[in-house]
Amino acid sequence: MTRPIGIFDSGVGGLTVLGALRERLPGEDLVYLGDTARLPYGTKSAATVQRYALNAAAHLAEHDVKLLVVACNTASSYALDALTAASPVPVIGVVEPGARAALATGARRIGVIGTEGTVRSGAYQTALARLAPSVEVEAVACPLLVPLAEEGWGDHPVTDEVARIYLEPLLARGVETVILGCTHYPLLRPSLERVVGPRVRLVDSASAVAETLARDHAGLLGTTGRRPGAIRLELTDASDRFLRITRAILGADPERLELVDI
Ligand code: DGL
Repeated sequence: MTRPIGIFDSGVGGLTVLGALRERLPGEDLVYLGDTARLPYGTKSAATVQRYALNAAAHLAEHDVKLLVVACNTASSYALDALTAASPVPVIGVVEPGARAALATGARRIGVIGTEGTVRSGAYQTALARLAPSVEVEAVACPLLVPLAEEGWGDHPVTDEVARIYLEPLLARGVETVILGCTHYPLLRPSLERVVGPRVRLVDSASAVAETLARDHAGLLGTTGRRPGAIRLELTDASDRFLRITRAILGADPERLELVDI
């Protein structure tokens, strides 16, 4: 019996992480849970996000997952300790891998954009200060970016304008790298790249998480012996809207999608 890797996000943005895991570890079976019924997490309190995250982890444990990837920045920021304490299997969040990936660019001034919860939690600021105390960090909450990503406006003048307003203080501080601290933001790369210009690097956690997993948990990987592994997708609300976004991120219809109640 092979055990899958469990991945969860508040919605479908975490599929960007699933895509990176699929690419880096193609033989692994993956179970993805998107808590679309309770999205967004980014505007909710720490206590609520922790409760939702523990529910999601308990649901994935029923699939006998061997590793748990928290593919949501808000849940990683607010609930990683609680999840780690409650989980019988290793838990990997997106914040530390994202912070390390940003530092690997050599930047001395780093900007972070994320949901209100992620920025308010100070998780990226703390991780960066621990890993590189002399690096300057400026974080900005960008609550309008998630709906723009879900609207499919990743390459759109309205998104350019909104992103320009949010990113202006970071650019004025001379940041050299910006961490996309929300799983939806990679979908906005065309607009974001236009706004930051060619000299500022945009870093997202997706491939960094896949690398962390491959490096730190090699003993648990490579067990299916099959290529490619199976992907099972579960959503707590499967509206047309989420299905459309899921297709856009995966580039195809999901192989297997189920509506679940957690
Ligand atoms: N998935 C969330 C994150 O990465 C963004 C969407 C939400 O607010 O739930 O922070």
